[in-house]
Amino acid sequence: MTDPVPVWHRLAGSSVLLDGFHALKHAVRFGAEVPVAVTADRAATLALADELAPDVRDALAGLLTEVPYETYASLVPRPHPTAVAALAVRPSRESHLARLARTPRTAPVVVLDNPRNLGNAGAVIRLAAGFGATGVVTTGTVDPWHPTVVRGGAGLHFATAVERLEVADLPAGPLFALDPEGDDLRATKLPDDAVLAFGSERTGLSTELRARADHLLSLPMRPQVSSYNLATSVAMTLYHWSLAAPLQGRGELRE
Ligand SMILES: C[S@@+](CC[C@H](N)C(=O)[O-])C[C@H]1O[C@@H](n2cnc3c(N)ncnc32)[C@H](O)[C@@H]1O
Repeated sequence: MTDPVPVWHRLAGSSVLLDGFHALKHAVRFGAEVPVAVTADRAATLALADELAPDVRDALAGLLTEVPYETYASLVPRPHPTAVAALAVRPSRESHLARLARTPRTAPVVVLDNPRNLGNAGAVIRLAAGFGATGVVTTGTVDPWHPTVVRGGAGLHFATAVERLEVADLPAGPLFALDPEGDDLRATKLPDDAVLAFGSERTGLSTELRARADHLLSLPMRPQVSSYNLATSVAMTLYHWSLAAPLQGRGELRE
């Protein structure tokens, strides 16, 4: 059996770290290419797969190599309780841009306008995956494939198209920007080809994004409250979209 450690060191700099069993499970389910995967306890990991992810159990069995716990711990920034880690190939920007540009779209694209909190960005990618959104686009300096964002996304970056773009290059489609000063979201039906934009945690929507918006929408909120958290705002908006959209293709994620 090939020693996974040299492979890991060769690929680590250019790959996506899947930190823990659930991240690996999701990534494999959504077609990630995983050149190396390690576990400190193969039997325990496969028992977890039998229990939680029988659909990918055999694929995981083929990927995972057992290494001593100390070896596993030396490969990751912080050991995960499941003692599982893997490296995945980052999907090409070109393939994502093609998915984001494809029309007609059957589910919205979420835009995070200059997000600052990496955990929020990860939570939004997880939401987008759960709702079957076409993709998550970020503007600004944060790399949406940063390891902390990937950790927050629980391996679900592979279930949607995640890319960074300039505001001028956002996908086509009616742009609905969420802002406490907008019209009540509850009176609006969000179309499947909507581009749903959310502002930065610190400063809200940028001038550039506002200028591009076709509609400004607000979430219901009592007067004394200034704003909601970014990820919870995305959750409410995608849920509102889903109420009017068919459920087809969005019932597969459970764990
Ligand atoms: C934490 S808030 C930004 C707060 C920021 N201090 C501001 O000036 O807007 C992050 C983003 O969540 C969305 N958001 C939060 N509360 C909202 C609400 N009540 N209605 C619509 N969007 C909201 C907006 O897109 C907002 O830009």
